[in-house]
Amino acid sequence: MRMLPASQALEENRLRCFIKSNFWIFLFMGKPVSTASGPLSGTISVPGDKSISHRALMLGAVAVGQTRIHGLLEGEDVLATATALGAMGVRVEKDANAIWVVDGVGLGGLAQPGQELDMGNSGTAARLLMGLVGGHEITATFVGDKSLSGRPMKRVSDPLTQMGISFENEKNDYCLPLTIHGTGQPIPISYTLPVASAQVKSAVMLAGLSTPGITTVIEPRATRDHTEKMLVALGANIKINDMENGSREISLTGQPELTAIEITVPADISSAAFPIVAALVVPGSKITLKNVGLNPLRTGLIDSLLEMGGNIEITNQHLEAGEEVGDIMVSASALKGINVPPSRAPSMIDEYPVLAMAAAMATGTTRMEGVGELRVKESDRLSAVEAGLKSCGVAVRSGDDWMEIDGSGGDGVPGGATIKTHLDHRIAMAFLVLGLVGKKPIGVDDGSPIDTSFPGFTRLMNGLGANMSRD
Ligand code: S3P
Repeated sequence: MRMLPASQALEENRLRCFIKSNFWIFLFMGKPVSTASGPLSGTISVPGDKSISHRALMLGAVAVGQTRIHGLLEGEDVLATATALGAMGVRVEKDANAIWVVDGVGLGGLAQPGQELDMGNSGTAARLLMGLVGGHEITATFVGDKSLSGRPMKRVSDPLTQMGISFENEKNDYCLPLTIHGTGQPIPISYTLPVASAQVKSAVMLAGLSTPGITTVIEPRATRDHTEKMLVALGANIKINDMENGSREISLTGQPELTAIEITVPADISSAAFPIVAALVVPGSKITLKNVGLNPLRTGLIDSLLEMGGNIEITNQHLEAGEEVGDIMVSASALKGINVPPSRAPSMIDEYPVLAMAAAMATGTTRMEGVGELRVKESDRLSAVEAGLKSCGVAVRSGDDWMEIDGSGGDGVPGGATIKTHLDHRIAMAFLVLGLVGKKPIGVDDGSPIDTSFPGFTRLMNGLGANMSRD
């Protein structure tokens, strides 16, 4: 046996005790981690809606006059759109009162960029801007981060090619980097979307703005209609026809005179989703979220959580610039497992990861169907959620386009894992929420992508009483 002088033995013993009592700190060193917390309480405002923020900048850029945007999301995704528009000659600036001002150059007025357009992590920026640029006599190369460079762009280049816009792609895989050769006079088309995607619909409509005729998009199910609503507010002529089979036809008359307006961006329901689920699962919680966007094509998560038995109340509902807005009050609730039907996917597409965390705390099994699109988001979200939940001791099964989660019946989850986030902000935030009910802490390998959509996330959560390290 090794003999140590008493002082050295004491030192070693102290070190061992220190490591033991700070085990979790060492395990997650430098990584965001969340630990079981007491009741969450308070009133918060989450940042502005990402989808509406992108559209406000893009449509402001091609309107005539000065667009003033209140509450723009200052996340990295939206800033990528602002920077790209700047590279195409549009002045986009934040004034002293935190209002973002866009000096519109009018339809057809975007200039040839002198550099690549870096879309960062943002699929919305890339796909919508391809539509807008496609309707201009511009050649531009779109690049993005590792996550975005693996996401499919053919769904956008296919219809845009039909409109006379051409693409160049070294690897021929229609992923970024992708060079687009726009045309000042795209051809108006009628296009049936193969997948329900607001991004693809919007790309076709934005290119359709420059056509000399009527562009029609038929979507198999209605998807978020922020582009349509904002275009109408700016003066475009749009006809919407809801079919009996649940599909929707949208027709846009090209070459409208778009007039700049004042836009107020509501808080993002997709960001609100995280504190909402946290308050439902952490015992004794009661929180209020102010001025959240409640566009009916975005509220599938609320429908699902209500079905699960969530105590959620909406007050102060009103319209702001054509978009429904309201306050959401949430109290901790005993949740039960449900079947989420495929028809709900478009209205809660970004919320499945956090719904999965609610499901892990529910009594019984939750089954989500028709969720194959989750495999081509910022990460393969079905895989990331499945792997993460399994490592936290939760039983999960999945197939190509479905997932099933067995809940703990409100008893917390084992936890004690570091989750691989694959550059996906929503995976990071979802698991940090789950850590609040973990028997052991839950960490994430990289918290930096959270800034793409929800800057200040951990600070805001901690303000409610959560235990999250990071900011
Ligand atoms: C978005 C549409 C959705 C959503 C994305 C934002 C938009 O994508 O997942 O975060 O702003 O149009 P898809 O349209 O590809 O489903």
